[in-house]
Amino acid sequence: MNPPLPSPPAAADAIRGRVGSAQPHDSAHLHVAGAAPYTDDLPEPRGTLHAALGLSTQAHARIRALQLDAVRAQPDVVCVLTAADIPGDNDFAATPAHDDPLLAADEVNYCGQPLFLVVARSRDAARRAARLAVVDYEPLPALLDIDAALAAGSFVLPSETMQRGDAAAAIAAAPHVLNRRFYIGGQEQFYLEGMIALAIPREDGCMQVLSSTQHPSEVQHKVAQALGVHAKDVSVECRRMGGGFGGKESQPALFAGLAAIAARHCRQPVKLRPDRDDDFLITGKRHDFRVDYRVGFDASGRVLGLELELASRCGYSADLSGAINDRAMMHADNAYWLPAVRVRSHRCRTHTQSNTAFRGFGGPQGMLAIEQTLDDIARYLQLDALAVRRANLYGIGERDITPYGMRVEDNILPALLDELAASADYAGRRAAVDAFNAASPWLKRGLALTPVKFGISFTATWLNQAGALLLLYSDGTLQLNHGGTEMGQGLYTKVAQVVASELCVDIERIRVTAADTGKVPNASATAASSGADLNGKAAQDAARQLKARLCAFAARHWQVAESEVEFRRNRVRVGPQEIAFAELAHAAWFARVPLAAQGFYATPKIHYDRSRWQGRPFYYFACGAALSEVEIDTLTGEYRLCRVDILHDVGRSLNPAIDRGQIEGGFVQGMGWLTSEQLVHAADGSLRTHSPSTYKIPTCRDWPREFNVAIRASRGNSEDTVFRSKAVGEPPLMLAISVFLALKDAIGAAAPGVAVPLSAPATPEAVLTALDAVRASPP
Ligand code: MTE
Ligand code: MOS
Repeated sequence: MNPPLPSPPAAADAIRGRVGSAQPHDSAHLHVAGAAPYTDDLPEPRGTLHAALGLSTQAHARIRALQLDAVRAQPDVVCVLTAADIPGDNDFAATPAHDDPLLAADEVNYCGQPLFLVVARSRDAARRAARLAVVDYEPLPALLDIDAALAAGSFVLPSETMQRGDAAAAIAAAPHVLNRRFYIGGQEQFYLEGMIALAIPREDGCMQVLSSTQHPSEVQHKVAQALGVHAKDVSVECRRMGGGFGGKESQPALFAGLAAIAARHCRQPVKLRPDRDDDFLITGKRHDFRVDYRVGFDASGRVLGLELELASRCGYSADLSGAINDRAMMHADNAYWLPAVRVRSHRCRTHTQSNTAFRGFGGPQGMLAIEQTLDDIARYLQLDALAVRRANLYGIGERDITPYGMRVEDNILPALLDELAASADYAGRRAAVDAFNAASPWLKRGLALTPVKFGISFTATWLNQAGALLLLYSDGTLQLNHGGTEMGQGLYTKVAQVVASELCVDIERIRVTAADTGKVPNASATAASSGADLNGKAAQDAARQLKARLCAFAARHWQVAESEVEFRRNRVRVGPQEIAFAELAHAAWFARVPLAAQGFYATPKIHYDRSRWQGRPFYYFACGAALSEVEIDTLTGEYRLCRVDILHDVGRSLNPAIDRGQIEGGFVQGMGWLTSEQLVHAADGSLRTHSPSTYKIPTCRDWPREFNVAIRASRGNSEDTVFRSKAVGEPPLMLAISVFLALKDAIGAAAPGVAVPLSAPATPEAVLTALDAVRASPP
């Protein structure tokens, strides 16, 4: 049961921008007017130089010679730097693996790897000059995909196993067994603002870096190491990103590090902004996976035993692949109780980009594995897929322990599924789709309702911390700073709403300032959907400290009891009189009361023993469900998304407008991953899809024809999160699994009773191939 909820602050309903209100994004008015500066828009300091990268054209090769004379000879070229010019550590790895060189030295490990840096007076000059390098490669054998890496035993990290019970024995004893393999494609983050860094040399060897990064602290540390200086000498700032989506969690350190090295070398500011194609070629993407499952089940579709083998393409280095694959393993249960289970995970090393974080962080791939499995079971037994899902759901008070030993508390999924099935009329539409298919020889419709249960917290426990700095000025306005970064998700707005509600001031009185390593040392990456949870709590702590201080001061100053001081909208009642909040701020300043507060938060209750795969890695789960309906043309494989109904749980919403945007955006991005976005590497290891001409992200035309999005009414998170809200950034992406399985359902309608071999992405071509396969197989 939910514990009693905190009552809203006094007179809260009148406060503009209070928690729970649909306050617009704090930069919305700037976004729409083109007046929100991104890093490249900021005024360039005098003498700013521009850098471009020279990239490897080989997937795996020894560098025999790197001839850069022609590059150096170009007009406007100031210098050309190689690995030998790096004063400190030639590495930007996010982990201690030390396997991510800023510039390749003797060997290249993927096609697109940076080899050298050209610094010139203009960006155009730098880019043109970079093409004139002559590189003498000695080609080495390259492993380009998961199959090749597995066959060669090539891994970035050791394989891992998580298990409960004896899955093999349970499968052997089960009445039915299925055994399948399928693939899940990768995905480019396709942030609209590409990677960029501007490094500005400051006095006495210090460096300031403006970086488009989800993780300014890590950029600070990596820049310091590359320069051979200390953290104190480097400051990193980021006011906003034009999207990060996980792609800017670890890899911005590459661009920041190189810009800083060049700035140090030239003693001038240097900007490094690769163009879209180079960004595509250089940076990592969502991991593609190969999934093998063996499942034993009963006649009702209940899973009795499951063996799952997850192999992912990590690329040339470890980057965040360890944590990403761990999360894939821990989401391979999704919403389902698996009595006997063994999940194996292989982290394959290949000679391709180093794959990295992308919204969901491995969770989507793990979830698709179990959803495909249940879907195959339903088709095999010729049962309704939703009935099979319901039969396998985590129970309430029993069958509620995950394979990693965490209890699924406050399990709202059975109820949430029932609500969505009712509001979207699953039963009626199932019958209508079946009737349509019976009467329609070439067009076929498909339907799928899938749940999402996503663990909230970094699985690396120490990352679950945040700090905030709140400054009150004597005119009663505030500056708010915290370790979180803004990438369009509305974090700054939400955290400002928390402070507005705590101090009972309108949100316009609060200016949120850029993430800055000079203000908060306890910052993690803004990631794992935990930005508002962590920074909201830290800012709340700061606001409460400030409020307590003001309250004590007011009581002292006006000689009333502290209980006689009450904060109202932009005003404060002090005993019998009411004064403006600004008046209180000024009086406090005049009386020499400190007006800065520093807040901190560390997520409670979480712990995890990775050696045994046991613990409580997540503070809580965020849940949702989606019902998608598609129509395919079985002659061409073309399809359209007819209707989507989503019911998503955000606890008590901090901001329903922003949360809705996250739900819609996450869903559409997930749909891109599973339907239209396809990464193609050629046989020589070069990435053939490196711009929107060949790589198709969803556009407004791909929006479902009917799109019903509802935030589930909630009494709030059962855990003590900030105002009982729940994280929303990543979980809705996985609602798009319903689109993929609806397509599979429609393909199945073309040949009932036959297994549907469908890998992701389900492009029209893939749908047509699957249709050919089902038409050719005996029922
Ligand atoms: N929304 C927008 N508009 N842009 C983004 O880059 N990133 C997503 C999600 N929503 C992203 C986004 C990812 S990957 C994460 S982890 C969360 O936002 C991070 O922000 P939060 O923790 O504040 O939700
Ligand atoms: Mo999000 S993938 O955790 O940055």
